Amino acid sequence: MSEGWTTDDMAYALRSGITPSGDVFGGSMAEVVRYGTGFLSDADLNAMATYLLDNKS
Ligand code: HEM
Repeated sequence: MSEGWTTDDMAYALRSGITPSGDVFGGSMAEVVRYGTGFLSDADLNAMATYLLDNKS
């Protein structure tokens, strides 16, 4: 699933709902952002994105 995503892109998308292509998350994922990940701190968003993308940094 990591194709096309950077950690910065993913942290931004989990905060804003806006994807790297400029589209927005639809369906249930929009609610995940609105009621959940949109409230996380930058540190937590970066940690989550790093884990999901299995980056080393
Ligand atoms: C903290 C929990 C979650 C995280 C971090 C997360 C993360 C993501 C990410 C990164 C994508 C984009 C995948 C891609 O395009 O390659 C995505 C898409 C999606 N997720 Fe989640 N997700 C979470 C929870 C959920 C839950 C609980 C649901 C359903 C109840 C859900 C439903 C969806 C759907 C439907 C999409 C496709 C959205 C679209 O393309 O418009 N997600 N999610």
